[in-house]
Amino acid sequence: MAKSLVLFYSRKGTNYVSGEIKTLEKGNAARIAEYIQKAVGADVFEIKTVEPYSDDYAACVEQARAEFKSNARPELKSYLESLDGYETVFVVGPNWCGVYPMPVYSQLERLDFSGKMVCYAVSHEGSGLGGVPQTMPGACKGAAFGEPLAVRGSNTENAEQTVAEWAKKAVA
Ligand SMILES: Cc1cc2nc3c(=O)[nH]c(=O)nc-3n(C[C@H](O)[C@H](O)[C@H](O)COP(=O)(O)O)c2cc1C
Repeated sequence: MAKSLVLFYSRKGTNYVSGEIKTLEKGNAARIAEYIQKAVGADVFEIKTVEPYSDDYAACVEQARAEFKSNARPELKSYLESLDGYETVFVVGPNWCGVYPMPVYSQLERLDFSGKMVCYAVSHEGSGLGGVPQTMPGACKGAAFGEPLAVRGSNTENAEQTVAEWAKKAVA
């Protein structure tokens, strides 16, 4: 099996879950990334910002909205510089105001995806993939895309099998 990579962004702390604000010890996208890693043995790279987002849900939504409006590209703690050796790249992150958090694009736009297959998953709380599919061809220059997967955040703990089957199909 050719080597694959999971690039993910996830935020723990307070979040909106099935109509209530709850505290997540581990973010939903982080769990999805783990399921993929377990299913296909991928390498994993976590996207981390220099400036952390607020732990408070409402304050984080304000930050995310402002960054979305200004099309910001927040600085990351470290950047993956090359996809050499990988055939399939899984991108995983939450739906924030309709698209991935801006730091996901800070990372994706630096990479050359020529010849790579990108399969992406979005964790959400009702909006599904939202506008993520529209953003991906511009962010992953040269990539071919597999079937995307939307996972409801509040259902992540029950979604391991679905995610594993999706990931295995992507690399088959
Ligand atoms: C800043 C922010 C904005 C969000 N915007 C949306 C949204 O527009 N649509 C939606 O369905 N869920 C939205 N959510 C909910 C998250 O997508 C959902 O809780 C997801 O599972 C979080 O993944 P994570 O724990 O890996 O960060 C938002 C959450 C945050 C923190």
